[in-house]
Amino acid sequence: MAKKLYIKTYGCQMNEYDSARMADVLAPLGYEPTAEVETADMVILNTCHIREKASEKVFSELGRLRPAKRDREAAGAEMIIAVAGCVAQAEGGEITRRAPHVDIVLGPQTYHRLPELIARARRAADPERRGIVDTEFPVESKFDHLPETSAATGVTAFLTVQEGCDKFCTFCVVPYTRGAETSRPVEEVAAEARRLVANGVREITLLGQNVNAYHGRAPSRFTGKAGGSAEWGLGRLARHLAEIDGLERVRYTTSHPRDMDDELIEAHRDLPQLMPFLHLPVQSGSDRILAAMNRQHRVVDFRAIVDRLRAARPDLALSSDFIVGFPGETDADFEATLALVRETGFAMAYSFKYSARPGTPAASLPQQVPEAVRTERLDRLQTLLRDQQQAFNAAMIGRRLPVLLAKPGRHPGQLIGRSPYLQSVHLDAPEASIGQILPVDILALSPNSLAGRLAHEPAAVRERLSA
Ligand code: 5AD
Ligand code: SF4
Repeated sequence: MAKKLYIKTYGCQMNEYDSARMADVLAPLGYEPTAEVETADMVILNTCHIREKASEKVFSELGRLRPAKRDREAAGAEMIIAVAGCVAQAEGGEITRRAPHVDIVLGPQTYHRLPELIARARRAADPERRGIVDTEFPVESKFDHLPETSAATGVTAFLTVQEGCDKFCTFCVVPYTRGAETSRPVEEVAAEARRLVANGVREITLLGQNVNAYHGRAPSRFTGKAGGSAEWGLGRLARHLAEIDGLERVRYTTSHPRDMDDELIEAHRDLPQLMPFLHLPVQSGSDRILAAMNRQHRVVDFRAIVDRLRAARPDLALSSDFIVGFPGETDADFEATLALVRETGFAMAYSFKYSARPGTPAASLPQQVPEAVRTERLDRLQTLLRDQQQAFNAAMIGRRLPVLLAKPGRHPGQLIGRSPYLQSVHLDAPEASIGQILPVDILALSPNSLAGRLAHEPAAVRERLSA
């Protein structure tokens, strides 16, 4: 009988990708995904360590799993609990000490070894003392050991092209949990992209902690020629992927302003497949704070990059990340952030209170900002960002947008699609049009999405599809 696999994913899209790949690794062992934790033979918590809150969630979830596991074992069944991802990488054996019912702790670079770890967990005699920790950064690449991506379940997909980070922003744990910056070779990425497209994917989001630091080994047929470079940047990679027949849309995230090079900006100008929506974290609008964060650029540099991007692709919409209350942030620094937001205009953004992370340089800086001040600043920033997002979405009403029809909606006859700007669009359309990009007239706004109508009668669409 098939075994049930329950995976809970915290944090970023790279974790979502890793969770899907862990399911791929376990499929040959007979594990099928389930949404019910109580009946699962295997539970994986794929964790995030970026802020304290994200980290703490794991331990409360583990607390809830304890009786569930006990119940299953009392009934003669199994519940193997694995903690994966960045908390696992950072805390290692501390997790099994705090939660002895955890069987396996594994890092983001070792999950290809899951089958072997499960076998070892089963062999361990005392069920309360069998915690296995595998968080070394292995010399081999997990990508060389993973099975092919499973048949895609949708028309959009993630594809990790780069991992790790060498930037060492002073607030961030990523360089410690995900390790040094590495890029997958171009041909490996292209092969995975072609497989996804063959499985029906129309839109691929290239992922990396620092995705535009990408520098993958170029295909050998390009390097032999005079002037061929051994490594390609993200702009060149995007150009290469855009040649894949049937791949209609490409996105990438998350990028760093420092790595927005000419080639990538030109790709935005030249490639219609590269969607006009870019997540470009700036974190702060104050040069003093940017320097203290070790962001390695100034506010003017960010402005100049945005100007060049918008010159290359006038309809480009921007999103960003902000941290308020970084140690030493004054009222004036914070006002500078608000000013940058007002001046730039963001289609959406994520903003966070600074969270001191153990082991990062900023955690031991003097002048930590009081919680009340951080809360007040976050509130003001989020109000401004929400207004900008609302205005951006409202400006869509009356426009005709190319929408990728992605999946059935909640009501019969309804589909959910995706606009070029990553907005969800609800509309009535035949299910057979899933996977198509069709012109949609945007009629109204709802809190988290747009409502639209096919620009052409569904009947006409149906005819076109069957023609
Ligand atoms: N505190 C608050 N926010 C953080 N981020 C990263 N580290 C921290 C931290 N210690 C935010 C940054 C980053 C996003 C993924 O999370 O804005 O871009
Ligand atoms: Fe963290 Fe900075 Fe690297 Fe982004 S660039 S992952 S914020 S260290």
